[in-house]
Amino acid sequence: MEESRNGLSRRQALGAISWAALAVGMTANPALATPKRAGKPSDAAKKAFVDDLIKRMTVDEKIGQLRLISIGPEMPHAKLMDEVAAGRIAGSFNTVIRRDNRPLQEAAVKRSRLKIPLFFAYDVVHGHRTTFPIPLGLASSFDMAVIERMARVSAVEACNDGVDMTFAPMVDIGHDPRWGRTSEGFGEDPYLVSECARASVRGFQGTSPDKPDTIMAAVKHFALYGAVEGGRDYNTVDMSPLRMRQTYLPPYKAAIDAGAGGVMVALNSINGVPATSNTWLLQDLLRKEWGFKGVTVSDHGAITELTRHGVARDNREAAKLSIKAGIDLSMADQVYLAELPGLIASGEIKMAEIDACVREVLGAKYDMGLFADPFLRMGKPEDDPVDVKADSRLNRQPAREIARETIVLLENRNQTLPLKKQGTIALIGPLADSGLDILGSWSAQGVPEQAVTLRAGLEAAIEGKARLVTARGSNVIDDQKVVEYLNFLNWDKPEVVQDPRSIEAMIEEAVSVASQADVVIAAVGELRGMSHESSSRVSIDMPGSQRRLLQALKATGKPLVVVLMNGRPLAIGWEKDNADALLETWYTGTEGGNAIADVLFGDHNPSAKLPISFPRSVGQIPTYYNALRIGRPYTEGKPGNYTSQYFEEAQGPLYPFGFGLSYSRFTLKDLKLSATRLKRGQKLSAEATLTNEGSYEGANVVQLYIADPYASIARPVKELKGFQKVTLKPGESRVVRFEIGEDELKFINGELKEVVENGRFDVQLGLDSHDVLVQSFELV
Ligand code: NOJ
Repeated sequence: MEESRNGLSRRQALGAISWAALAVGMTANPALATPKRAGKPSDAAKKAFVDDLIKRMTVDEKIGQLRLISIGPEMPHAKLMDEVAAGRIAGSFNTVIRRDNRPLQEAAVKRSRLKIPLFFAYDVVHGHRTTFPIPLGLASSFDMAVIERMARVSAVEACNDGVDMTFAPMVDIGHDPRWGRTSEGFGEDPYLVSECARASVRGFQGTSPDKPDTIMAAVKHFALYGAVEGGRDYNTVDMSPLRMRQTYLPPYKAAIDAGAGGVMVALNSINGVPATSNTWLLQDLLRKEWGFKGVTVSDHGAITELTRHGVARDNREAAKLSIKAGIDLSMADQVYLAELPGLIASGEIKMAEIDACVREVLGAKYDMGLFADPFLRMGKPEDDPVDVKADSRLNRQPAREIARETIVLLENRNQTLPLKKQGTIALIGPLADSGLDILGSWSAQGVPEQAVTLRAGLEAAIEGKARLVTARGSNVIDDQKVVEYLNFLNWDKPEVVQDPRSIEAMIEEAVSVASQADVVIAAVGELRGMSHESSSRVSIDMPGSQRRLLQALKATGKPLVVVLMNGRPLAIGWEKDNADALLETWYTGTEGGNAIADVLFGDHNPSAKLPISFPRSVGQIPTYYNALRIGRPYTEGKPGNYTSQYFEEAQGPLYPFGFGLSYSRFTLKDLKLSATRLKRGQKLSAEATLTNEGSYEGANVVQLYIADPYASIARPVKELKGFQKVTLKPGESRVVRFEIGEDELKFINGELKEVVENGRFDVQLGLDSHDVLVQSFELV
C-alpha cells in the first residue's frame, strides 16, 4: 500500500496510458502481456498482471474495486460517471444499453487514474432480450442441450448489449413450493439441478468467458437459499451438514467445476451464521475444499443486513465480517466505501485481506477479457443498435423450439389433445392474453408487447381454419390486498390490472362463449408476480375465482383443456380430476403462445417431465421424492395406524417427480442387468426396452434411479442417477442402456466422507420416479 502511495514507480506512471498501449508495451515481457481475445490466458500471466496492478493501487482505488453499483435514485448516471472517473467503482449492474454504458466505460479507461475497466453485470437468468421459459420449465425438458442453447443464445444477446457477467444460473434446490423463487430454480433433485447448472455455465461461458460472445456466469445463491424455513423468502436455514452435502450443495459445486467465474452469496443464514459473514462457507468449503478461484459477490444489501441478522453491531462491523469471510464485491454497496478506510486505518482489516478481494475482482475482469479490450462486448459506437428493442434483435425461433420442450402434459382423457384446427374453439381465462405474465419472473429485457400470448399463438396456428371465441372469465386473483402487494413490488408501473366486472358477470360471459364452442381451452394459474422473489404464498391452491370459472366451464359439458401458467407446483387436485386435458406450461417466454399452440394442435408432441413433485395440498409439503428411509413408512395399499401419513388425505404427491405424458403411448419393459454382482472399480449395465406403441412420433425420458436399502446411515428411498431422452417413431423400440459404477453408488456417510459401501442396490428404470421396473445387484 505504502509503495503505491509514495514515490511513483515506473509502473505507476503507466497508469496514465491506455490499457491497449499497456498491453503493447508489455509484449517485451511475455509474462505481463494480456492476450487479445486469444483463448484462456495462463494462470501465471494473469497472476503477474494482477499483482503488478495491485502494487500500484491506492487504498481508495482498492476499495473502489470492491463496489458493484446499480443506477438508481441514489446513484444517477451523472454521479456514477464521476465515481467511475474517481476510480471508486468496479462495475455496475442493471445498465444494459450500450449508449448508456459506453460513457461509463470511457470514464473508467480514459479518466480514472489507473484506467481499470468496469464490468457490466445483469440478471440474464432465462433470456436477455428474448425471454425463454423460466428455469423450472427449462428443467422440465430433461434435455441439457436445450438448457445450453438457452444460455448460449441469451449470452450472445447480452453481449450485444455490452453485458459481461450474469447473475446465473440459480441452482437453489427447491423443496417448498410456497417459496416464490421456486420458479427461478431447476427443481428438487440434486442430480438434475447439477446437470442443469453445468449446461447453463457451458452455454453462458462457452469455451471461455473472455470472448466477445460469452459472459461470465456467477452461480447463485450460495448457499442453501432454497431451504428457507417455511418457504418464507430471506428466512433462516438450519440444516445438518449431511443433508447439505447430500442434497443442497452439489449443484453449486457442479457449476463451479464447470468453470463458473463467479459466486453470488445468499441472503439467508446457515445454522445461525449468515452466508455473507460465513467463513466456513466462503473460505473453508468454497475456496479450500472446492478450490474455487473466482470472484464472490454479495447479494443486494446483504452486507448491511448483517446488522439485522444480529451478528454485526453496525455497518462497520458488517463490513469487517464480510471482508474477513471473503465477500469480494459488495452489491449495491452501502458500506465498503464508508467503512473500509477506517477499518484499514485501525488495523482491524489488514491490507492483505483487502488485496485478496481486489485480486479476485481484477482476476474476474481479466478472465472476462476486459483488460485486453474494455469494449470487447460493447463494440464500436457506430454499431450501437438504433432501436434496442427492435424485434429483429430477438431470437424467436430458438425461443419457440425451446419452449415446446418444456411443456408437461399431465392429463389427456379420451385423447382430447391434440386438437384439430377446425370448428369453434373457446379460449377463456385471465392468462390467455397476457404478454407480461407469460414472460415469468426475472425476464430481463423481455418486452411484454413482443411476447406471443396464447391467444396470439392460437390465432396464428389456426390460420382462419377454425373460429376462435374468447372471454376473460375471471381475474387471476380477486383479493385486493394481494393485488396491491404485487403492484407495490413492481417499481415501474402496476403489473396487475384488474377487470372491474364482478366475478359472476365474467363467468356468465365465459359460459355463454364456451357454449358456442366445440372445445374450451382455459388459461389459468398465477400472475408472474406471485412466483417471484419476495412472493411466498401460504396456499398453493388455484386462486378461488379461477377455480369457480373452471367449475362453471366444466358444467357446460364441453371438453375442457386446462392450460396452466405458474411458477411453482400448485395443488390442482380438482383440475386433475376434472380437466379432459391438463398442460403444465410454466411461463414459456417470448414465444410462449406459439409453443403452447404447437403442443395443443400436435405440431409438437410433448415430452417434458416434472422436475419437482406436485403436492396434493399445502399441508403435505415437503413432498420431494428422494426422502430418507424411515422406520414406519406408509405402504401403498396397506393403510393402517402408526405409519407415517396424513390421515385425512391420500398419500404421496399428486404428480410425482419425473412425470409427464405424451400423445403417444410409451412402454418400458424387460429391465435387465448385465450382472448381479459388481466388483469395485468395475461397471455393470442396466437396460430396458422403450417402445412407442402409439401413433405419433415422440420422445420420452427414461430415468435411472438407484436405491440403497441398507447402509451405514439411512439413505434416500431412491435417487436419480441418470436419464436419457429418446425419440421414437410409431411402433419403434429401442434398448436404452445405463452404465452403473461407483460414481452412481457413492454417498456421504455419517462422518461426512464420500464412500461406497458393499451390499445390495436396487436399480429402477422408469418413465417417472414412481412407476418403475426394479432389479437388484450386489456390490462386492
Ligand atoms: C437480488 C436477488 O436476490 C438476486 O438473485 C439478484 O441477482 C440481485 N438482486 C441482482 O438483481
